[in-house]
Amino acid sequence: MTKRSIQTTLTHSDYTPPAGFAAYPTAIHHASTVLFKDVASMRAGDWRSKAAYTYGLHGTPTTFTLEARLAEIEGGRHCLLAPSGLAAISMILLALLKSGDDVLLPDNAYNPTRELGRWLASDFGVSARFYDPLVGGAIADLIQPNTKLVWTEAPGSVSMEVPDLPAICAAAHARGVPVALDNTWAAGLALRGFDVGADIVMQALTKYQSGGSDVLMGAVITRDGALNDRIAMSHMRLGMGVGADDVYLVLRGLETMKLRFDAHNAAARRVAAWLKGRPEIAKVLHPAFADCPGHDVWARDFTGAAGLFSVVFDPRYEGAQVDRFVDALTLFGIGFSWGGTHSLVTPYRMRGMRRDWNEAGALVRFNIGLEAPEDLIADIEQALGRL
Ligand SMILES: Cc1ncc(COP(=O)(O)O)c(C=O)c1O
Repeated sequence: MTKRSIQTTLTHSDYTPPAGFAAYPTAIHHASTVLFKDVASMRAGDWRSKAAYTYGLHGTPTTFTLEARLAEIEGGRHCLLAPSGLAAISMILLALLKSGDDVLLPDNAYNPTRELGRWLASDFGVSARFYDPLVGGAIADLIQPNTKLVWTEAPGSVSMEVPDLPAICAAAHARGVPVALDNTWAAGLALRGFDVGADIVMQALTKYQSGGSDVLMGAVITRDGALNDRIAMSHMRLGMGVGADDVYLVLRGLETMKLRFDAHNAAARRVAAWLKGRPEIAKVLHPAFADCPGHDVWARDFTGAAGLFSVVFDPRYEGAQVDRFVDALTLFGIGFSWGGTHSLVTPYRMRGMRRDWNEAGALVRFNIGLEAPEDLIADIEQALGRL
């Protein structure tokens, strides 16, 4: 099958329906127990193999189809599913780190990733050190003989700094250290992680792949078989099962993901551009805007942007005033996560999360959904009046 563009790849799956039943949707296979035809085939079963089925936890035709599709989209070879994006992150860290090892985590990583690092450090004898996401090739100076992983997130999903991934990966590889990328924002569409040197690409499928604010799921994609095998051991030991119905929803979401992503991208840029012209806003932290740290790197490495960005309010507005603005929005739900059709808004207390945070004004993150941007702008305008 010729798939020249990503949209064609997303629409056409290599899934083969059962003989005599031609249909596009992937069948939903529910199974904990997988039956073997005899004892010999049970004894021969290898849970690692994708050529055969051994137990529902290790995969079904439904999960293997989604894994293959995600690997294809991201340009990888292997994929493992996890029951949430955070579970995928845990699976990677626990696969690659043991007591005495060191991991470098960026200051702009999704906070639960940093919390996991802190927990590994406090209770499991791992050293977790945090670095400036704009460090670039100077990450080399931070790498120690016991450093076993460099984590990256591009851009940081709250503060939006875009790291120089080619420089970080080149420096880490020169010291033999693999790099993992949380590529949830770009979803394998605006950036393919392996193209910029990442060894492990993680995505929270909860966001754009699902697109419905209804599913929790994560994926870990690799090219290197040995690396995949190590993460597969963690997948097996931790029992990272995913539900077949949820997998089906993600498979269905993939077909429209690029169209949704492009619409989120266009609408978010319109809303962000409008906010940029407002006197209440000190900075627009959207990678396509020059205010955003790492904007030049984004322009060089990415082909688009997601619908998620943040703004920093002028410091003359107290936190309570900005909270009033958030409460006054009517088309934006107040809540966590992103990537769905509904617009969301999340005010963050950055100082509590990051000691290195220097902005004086309050930060508010927007997830721009699929509503008409002019309606969203009108809603923001009326809410700004409540400041
Ligand atoms: C950048 C990023 N990575 C990972 C996750 C975790 O995904 P999940 O909510 O599926 O655990 C999130 C969730 O918000 C996220 O924003």
